[in-house]
This record gives sequence, structure tokens and C-alpha cells, in this order.
Amino acid sequence: MITVFNAVLIILITWLTYMYFDLREKVTPAQDRYLQLIDGVASIIDCLEGYDKPHSQEIARLADQIGTASGLNAEQLQSLRAAAMLHDIGELLLPRNLLKSEKKIAGDDLELLRTHTLLGELHLRTQIAGLDEVPSLIRWHHERWDGLGYPDNLKGEEIPVAARIISMADSISAMNAKRAYRSRQFAKSEDIVAEVKRLSGLQFDPQLVKIWLEIGSPVETKQK
Ligand SMILES: [Fe+2]
Ligand SMILES: [Fe+2]
Repeated sequence: MITVFNAVLIILITWLTYMYFDLREKVTPAQDRYLQLIDGVASIIDCLEGYDKPHSQEIARLADQIGTASGLNAEQLQSLRAAAMLHDIGELLLPRNLLKSEKKIAGDDLELLRTHTLLGELHLRTQIAGLDEVPSLIRWHHERWDGLGYPDNLKGEEIPVAARIISMADSISAMNAKRAYRSRQFAKSEDIVAEVKRLSGLQFDPQLVKIWLEIGSPVETKQK
């Protein structure tokens, strides 16, 4: 026999279930819109940076694959993807002629270019709420495993794993990219694989290199 207590309980459970699915319906599209918006911003960054391929998209794909294989959870993967897409947003705050320069960037200009990590972090931290660790990941996307990176010379596991992933994905993508001030380093994927192996334990986390090699993730290669 259904008591008043049971009836109230059933109504309560039904209401909570309804609320759960209703909320899920609302939350999922919002997350999709968030990622679509970030995709749009990233494509503008790629255009303004003068890359000859969708650099940010490629990094996000590589980072996603490596992050998933490394066992990151859904929340960490979302931050990883957003930070991968926006990693160079600080370059938008630098003088246009610096990125369009056709000569090799060195000296004071190189120091200025390197500030894009700090500018990106600061801009996102002060302008957009709720990005969690994304601004920090952007700050550290040029740190190196051997401590010779910038801006903080972090070493090994001092660098959050998501920042290590973005750094590696960024470098792998850049090896086959052309920019106004830099020609393509490698045209063939086997040369990229050899270079990544060479940099394992120097620039890159050896464990992440191992994972990348196991995934066998292709990098878009261009010949010219
Ligand atoms: Fe960068
Ligand atoms: Fe980059």
C-alpha cells in the first residue's frame, strides 16, 4: 500500500530526475557553445599569427589525444582543450609588425615575443571568469622538461601535466608550420618523429613522448 510518505518520495524522486535531465539538456549545449566560441577565437588567432595551417586546431587535437591516453579526467581535458586553443592569445596584444616581420626574431624582439605567455595569462585571468586553470596553462606553455623554458624556468613535474602536453603538441605542430619570420623546419613526418625522440628528456616529458609514439598520431605535413 502506498503511504503518504512513499507518494511524497516518488514525487520527489520524479521531480529530481526531471530536474537532472532538464539541467543536463541545458548544460550540454552551453558547453558546446563555449567550445565553439573558443574554436572561433582560435581561428582568428591563427589567421593573425600568419600560420599556413590551422595551428591551434591541430594542437587541440594532439593535446586531446595525448591527454586522453594519459588518463586525464573530463574536467582536465576540457581545460586542456581550451588552453590548447587559446595558448597564443597573448600574441594578439603584441605589435602587429613583430609577427609579420620576415626576418628571424632575436634580441629585444625575441624577449618581447616571449611576453605573450604572461600577456595571455593576465588577459584571460582579468577578463574572463571561470576559466579555472586555463590562464596558468597558457603561462607555462613554453616551459621545458629540462628547465630551460620560459617564463618561470619550471622543470620536470613542476610543470602541470596539461601544460607539458600543450608545450609538446605546440612544438610538434610548429615543426611543420611556416610563419612570416620562420621557414618550415621539417616536411616529412618521419623527420618530425626523429626530432621528437631527440628532444625527449630535454624539451619534452619522456613519458608523454612515449604516449605520443604509441598513439601514432599523424601531423599534417606540407612539402613547400
Ligand atoms: Fe606560444
Ligand atoms: Fe603556438
